[in-house]
Amino acid sequence: MSLQETLEYRRSVRYFDEAKELDTEKVKHCIELATLAPNSSNMQLWEFYHITDPEMLKIISHACLDQKATETAKQIVVFVTRRDLHRKHSKAILDFEKGNIARYSPPERQEKRWKDRLVYYNRVMPFLYSRFLGLLGLLRKILATSISLFRPMVTTVSESDVRVVVHKTCGLAAQTFMIAMAEIGYDTCPLEGFDSRRVKRLLKLPRSAEINMVIPCGIRKGTLGIWGERFRVPFDEVYKKI
Ligand SMILES: Cc1cc2nc3c(=O)[nH]c(=O)nc-3n(C[C@H](O)[C@H](O)[C@H](O)COP(=O)(O)O)c2cc1C
Repeated sequence: MSLQETLEYRRSVRYFDEAKELDTEKVKHCIELATLAPNSSNMQLWEFYHITDPEMLKIISHACLDQKATETAKQIVVFVTRRDLHRKHSKAILDFEKGNIARYSPPERQEKRWKDRLVYYNRVMPFLYSRFLGLLGLLRKILATSISLFRPMVTTVSESDVRVVVHKTCGLAAQTFMIAMAEIGYDTCPLEGFDSRRVKRLLKLPRSAEINMVIPCGIRKGTLGIWGERFRVPFDEVYKKI
């Protein structure tokens, strides 16, 4: 399939064919492709829980309000945001970047680039992702808004802004996953209709982790699980050329 054909093929499928199994390795590969999604500051504050165990599938399906898509899913992938991993990932990025800069940056620029990375991942990222009962978010917001009175400044730095950042990133990974699945004829249905407290408990996630999306997977049974033709608001209502 071309990219356009794949995008047209992907639909939210709410009923999967009981007789058609998925190849776990292929689904795993699609999850790996999802990690190629663009993501904020390359922090990759996401995790992917690939559920294949039949018993666990049933329990998760119940936490997803027993929706038909989860009840008939052959596998389920849960997309999770992990703000709490920011220090670990910053360190991994710096470890990688040291060699990356040495290999690819012009010699005269290497020192400055390395210093910039150090400031960004050792100071800016911990400042952005640190929480301290949500109080740091308020401090960041006041600081950023004050600076923006004098020069352009990113002001979306509060506690809830940072949650949006990691959910945006994770959503891009989820979409990349669904496109990769569609390309091999596998179907998905993104869900936000679930009890996140229960899903978190089942996956033994820490408090600060959040469920971004639950994606049941399987293979469509004709048009049974597709609710008719696709509706989109007219393109000229949403397209603004400036
Ligand atoms: C964030 C998000 C949450 C969604 N939650 C649900 C859900 O809980 N149950 C459901 O049946 N569909 C859910 N959907 C699927 C949408 O209803 C679907 O994408 C939309 O109707 C467009 O249809 P299409 O995906 O076939 O193009 C969700 C989609 C997104 C992106």
